Amino acid sequence: MIVAAAQAEVVERSTPMSGATELVVHHPPSASAVQPGQFFQLAVGAPHTILRRPYSAAWADPISGRLGFIFNVVGAGSAWLANLPEGHDVDLLGPLGRGFELDGRDPAIVVAGGLGVAVFPGVVRALVARGRRVTVLLGARSVAQLMRSDRFAGAEVKVATDDGSAGHHGSVVDLLLDQVGGLDIFGCGPTPMLQALMRAARRLDIPLSSIQVALETPMGCGIGTCLGCAAPGRAGGYLLTCQDGPCLRADRIDWDHMTDAFHG
Ligand SMILES: Cc1cc2nc3c(=O)[nH]c(=O)nc-3n(C[C@H](O)[C@H](O)[C@H](O)COP(=O)(O)OP(=O)(O)OC[C@H]3O[C@@H](n4cnc5c(N)ncnc54)[C@H](O)[C@@H]3O)c2cc1C
Ligand code: FES
Repeated sequence: MIVAAAQAEVVERSTPMSGATELVVHHPPSASAVQPGQFFQLAVGAPHTILRRPYSAAWADPISGRLGFIFNVVGAGSAWLANLPEGHDVDLLGPLGRGFELDGRDPAIVVAGGLGVAVFPGVVRALVARGRRVTVLLGARSVAQLMRSDRFAGAEVKVATDDGSAGHHGSVVDLLLDQVGGLDIFGCGPTPMLQALMRAARRLDIPLSSIQVALETPMGCGIGTCLGCAAPGRAGGYLLTCQDGPCLRADRIDWDHMTDAFHG
């Protein structure tokens, strides 16, 4: 597949939850092409930021030609993006990588930790559109950092916060204990949260093959040439997040050797 960079106009900027920015851009070809879970490489104009920055499409609407990106400011690139005014263009490369496999019969459980929730509005919309029963388990440090549950229309939403300010007081992974039966799990969040999800799945006899994760590793090119995004594979060797993922079956990953490059 040939992927070309394109200019997309920023048409809306908002704050979906405390500390996060949602940029809505207008680019009909991207909004039609992107699959839930795929990402784009966004060019940033901040000084000394040579590489594009990878961001999942939070959602896309082929009819309006719009798509959204939800992110927090962690460095120069995201700060530059968060300050892009409406009417300006952003340079998109994508859609890139593999999205989630959305078809299936088992109830779908979405497990989102922190900003990992950014990939899920469009995923949940697509699952609900397929007539699937969907439960969204949302975890954040406190109530202010939780995405509004109306972003997941048609799904049941349960929340957990580290400080107990809303829902379960503790990890979002604890909410999995209430779920019974055959499950189709979709996870995204910091590596320690995903590792906790794998430990919980093993305790509950949930096969890791029934869990798909959206990985966020460091990235250089986003198109399979720099090897910067390598993640350890369970069968040995490495998987490239930008080519084999970012959405991958959890049994393909060597969780014991996944490092948390970003979250300390
Ligand atoms: C496929 C993919 C999809 C992503 N989707 C989203 C998303 O939807 N929303 C979102 O908020 N973030 C997402 N990220 C993370 C996002 O790419 C980084 O936060 C961003 O590149 C940081 O750029 P920066 O210039 O602001 O920070 P930098 O100055 O480059 O780094 C600042 C801090 O952020 C950390 N960081 C750098 N790159 C990443 C990264 N790839 N992931 C996590 N932390 C990083 C660094 O280790 C450092 O601690 C995604 C990453 C990948 C690989
Ligand atoms: S980011 Fe360059 S190979 Fe994946």
